[in-house]
Amino acid sequence: MGSPTLNTVVSLVLLILFFVLSFLITVSSESNEEADALLKWKASLQIHNRSLLSSWIKDTSNVSSKISPCAWSGISCNDAGRVIKISLPGVGLKGKLHDFSFSSFPHAYLDLSRSGLFEVGLLSHLKFLYVDSNQLDGSIPPEVGQLSSLVELFLFSNNLNGSVPPLGNLTHISLLYIRENSFSGFIPPDIGNLKSMSILDLSSNQFSGPIPVSFGNLTNLKNLDLLYNNLSGSIPPSLDNPVLTMLGLDFNHFTSYLPHNICRGGALQYFGVSENHFQGTIPKSLRNCTSLIRVRLNGNNLTGNISEALGIYPNLTFIDLSRNNFYGETHLIGGNAQN
Ligand SMILES: *[C@@H]1O[C@H](CO)[C@@H](O)[C@H](O)[C@H]1NC(C)=O
Ligand SMILES: *[C@@H]1O[C@H](CO)[C@@H](O)[C@H](O)[C@H]1NC(C)=O
Ligand SMILES: *[C@@H]1O[C@H](CO)[C@@H](O)[C@H](O)[C@H]1NC(C)=O
Ligand SMILES: *[C@@H]1O[C@H](CO)[C@@H](O)[C@H](O)[C@H]1NC(C)=O
Ligand SMILES: *[C@@H]1O[C@H](CO)[C@@H](O)[C@H](O)[C@H]1NC(C)=O
Ligand SMILES: *[C@@H]1O[C@H](CO)[C@@H](O)[C@H](O)[C@H]1NC(C)=O
Repeated sequence: MGSPTLNTVVSLVLLILFFVLSFLITVSSESNEEADALLKWKASLQIHNRSLLSSWIKDTSNVSSKISPCAWSGISCNDAGRVIKISLPGVGLKGKLHDFSFSSFPHAYLDLSRSGLFEVGLLSHLKFLYVDSNQLDGSIPPEVGQLSSLVELFLFSNNLNGSVPPLGNLTHISLLYIRENSFSGFIPPDIGNLKSMSILDLSSNQFSGPIPVSFGNLTNLKNLDLLYNNLSGSIPPSLDNPVLTMLGLDFNHFTSYLPHNICRGGALQYFGVSENHFQGTIPKSLRNCTSLIRVRLNGNNLTGNISEALGIYPNLTFIDLSRNNFYGETHLIGGNAQN
């Protein structure tokens, strides 16, 4: 009578042991894999100041110790010892992002991929990747588009080029800074699916084509910075979400009209559309947009009576309306506004 129960207990214990053991094996081999991937990348880089990555070493004096990259400079880990943050801004990295083995940062916690039970997605627990202000060149590896836990991605001020790979799987991303590179091609429309996006900075690149209509779906977007590109076409009317604080479209080739409800939520502080080919009148919603601090409309083909189009802006510190086809008088009230 007792033996089937005992058998069950024994099998259960064995089963649990099996899972605990495979978990432990998985954890240590993955942290080694992460360490190896980082070391391999280090080896591929020309680093201006070697001492900045001097902590990135494999301690070969003690074979029984696990290599943990968690204490290395610029690396942060979660409680399970997995790398969740790589922060190396301005370290003087010269090399390629392509040499970085993104596939070595696999899914956190229980990974049963080696057991053949599940096909576990790769690369998914890195939350923060900051490699801005270096001299990385080449393109963004497509694997970056699969780092589905990423919350912040800072690639700005490098020499990256080519087109931006599809990023539609980065559903948690909130800050995406890729300004000051040499990216070209269209802005990927799937960025418009990234509902958590709060700050999107693509400025100072060579993006061409229109702003994707899908950007109207970015309801949490506070800052949209597209200055100094080769963008053209019209502005999606839906680009008027109530939390929008900063819209920078200066120095592009936009034509057509300014979006009418741009200050719908009353949060807009920075509105820059200068040096384009915008036509038509100043958006109606700007008249009562008391939140405005800086406004640049200069260098367009805008028309209309500015005394009717503009209102009273208590916080305004700068406005430039020059080189348009306006008429009428300005009665701007605000700090030291100039026009
Ligand atoms: C290299 O970096 C270290 C650590 O930040 C710093 O103390 C040292 O002055 C740097 N050396 C050079 C040549 O920049
Ligand atoms: C080697 O590593 C093991 C495990 O991390 C540790 O317990 C031991 O003290 C280390 N030995 C030396 C000589 O550092
Ligand atoms: C990107 O830059 C490299 C040089 O760093 C160049 O060889 C390559 O043709 C460029 N690619 C594009 C798409 O501009
Ligand atoms: C997004 O993720 C899905 C599911 O993992 C995958 O099939 C698809 O190829 C991914 N898309 C991109 C652009 O990486
Ligand atoms: C700028 O955009 C226009 C129109 O889309 C295109 O014809 C031109 O090749 C682009 N120039 C550069 C340098 O990308
Ligand atoms: C905006 O999001 C909705 C719901 O997810 C989707 O049906 C629609 O196609 C999106 N619009 C654009 C222009 O991508």
